Amino acid sequence: MPFQKIRSEDIAFFKTILEDKYVLADDENLARCASDQTEDLHYLPELVLQPRTAAEISSIMKHCNTHNIPVTPRGAGTGLSGGALPVHGGVLLDMKRFNEILDVDKRNFQVTTEPGVITQELQEQLKAEGLFYPVDPASKGSCFIGGNVAENSGGPRAVKYGVVKDYVLNLEMVLPNGEVIWTGANVLKNATGYNLTQLVVGSEGTLGIITKIVLRLIPAVKHDLLLLVPFRKAVEACAAVNAIFLAGYTPSALEFMERDALEWSMKYVQSGGVPIAIGMQEDIAAHLLIEVDGNHMDELYRDAEAIAQLVQQYDIGEVLFADSHEQKQMLWTLRRKVGEAVKSNSIYKEEDTVVPRAELPELLQIIKDLGREYGFQSVCYGHAGDGNLHVNIVKGNMSDEDWQHRLPQGIRKLFKEVVRMGGTISGEHGIGLVQREYMDIAFSSVQMGLMRQIKNVFDPNGILNPGKILMS
Ligand code: LAC
Ligand code: ZN
Repeated sequence: MPFQKIRSEDIAFFKTILEDKYVLADDENLARCASDQTEDLHYLPELVLQPRTAAEISSIMKHCNTHNIPVTPRGAGTGLSGGALPVHGGVLLDMKRFNEILDVDKRNFQVTTEPGVITQELQEQLKAEGLFYPVDPASKGSCFIGGNVAENSGGPRAVKYGVVKDYVLNLEMVLPNGEVIWTGANVLKNATGYNLTQLVVGSEGTLGIITKIVLRLIPAVKHDLLLLVPFRKAVEACAAVNAIFLAGYTPSALEFMERDALEWSMKYVQSGGVPIAIGMQEDIAAHLLIEVDGNHMDELYRDAEAIAQLVQQYDIGEVLFADSHEQKQMLWTLRRKVGEAVKSNSIYKEEDTVVPRAELPELLQIIKDLGREYGFQSVCYGHAGDGNLHVNIVKGNMSDEDWQHRLPQGIRKLFKEVVRMGGTISGEHGIGLVQREYMDIAFSSVQMGLMRQIKNVFDPNGILNPGKILMS
């Protein structure tokens, strides 16, 4: 059944639920919610609603479900696979008013938060209480915790501390039919029935609207040390990653940046007025940014020195030990800004490949070989310790024809190789809109059928975030 366009009577109904100022159809708000950080895509919603309570969302969902109006939830709009794009128009559910941390339960090392809290603000508030929520996506300064849950985000610390799914204990959510449920319980162990919580984590807003999140926390960690290691051969940087683990070390971050990634980020950050106090040798092809953390400085120095020693077996330049808070901040800023820097440089596509960690050198080699075969330039960087490489394919001089038709064949080939190596097609950015067409590489028709049925159970009318994950 085709979706229904929003009529004046729908708007009148929404205004019985929300104050007029939270029912928005002005050009500015529609345009604001038409895009996220995915490529240069934009899709206008017909209406933006800004609810504040689960009860309000419940009424909105009931109405939309009855009238077959598509609903797209939106967090901070930092997604990279188009999850928040209202591709069928309809209602855009802007969650920014859900911005309260509801309960910090120090006794149990848990927090209950609303989804519209900025991740970094949540982390800082918890840190002030001696608590640690370690998952820190690159966009932590602007992304919402709700979007992180919807995407099962990761980030640099995932290598030691895990990703969002490892911290979510329980979720309150509104189903497409307006029912409000909790998915689990606020406990560290739970062997009670199907795991609805983990089904919803990473479901990209296609099964329900998350309105409360209970996270488990860990004690704050006191110290960290950061090293930047320049490599003359990028494949050797990838090989060093696994060598560090095999030698018995688990860094709290182990990030890979190809030369272009760091260089572009340096230029981008500098153009924003921030001075960059590191240089780059001519013959360096890639860097590893390695962080170790813990509560005992002497142990950290020992580990950092051992790692610096271990990487001497490769063809490397001079290892930089970040010796001040400012230098650490600068290195992390450079790392976090790579994505933005690439985006500011050229139209690009982002592929979020992930393979078992030891296969990383092969993955990088394959990406570069495919680039030669299909005529694309790639800037690779990411969470090497997780085997998770972000492959930014820049359009550069590629013709529109090649960009639209030939490149997808190259990406298909890349994903097939990734799956052959035991990996998959998204580590942390989700499938959303832009990766749906490749799902058949990661899953058989039987697996896809199961996913379709799960979607139908939650959302039989298909009104919630339609056009995402599954091909319509
Ligand atoms: C990063 C984002 C793009 O790692 O995931 O920078
Ligand atoms: Zn990332």
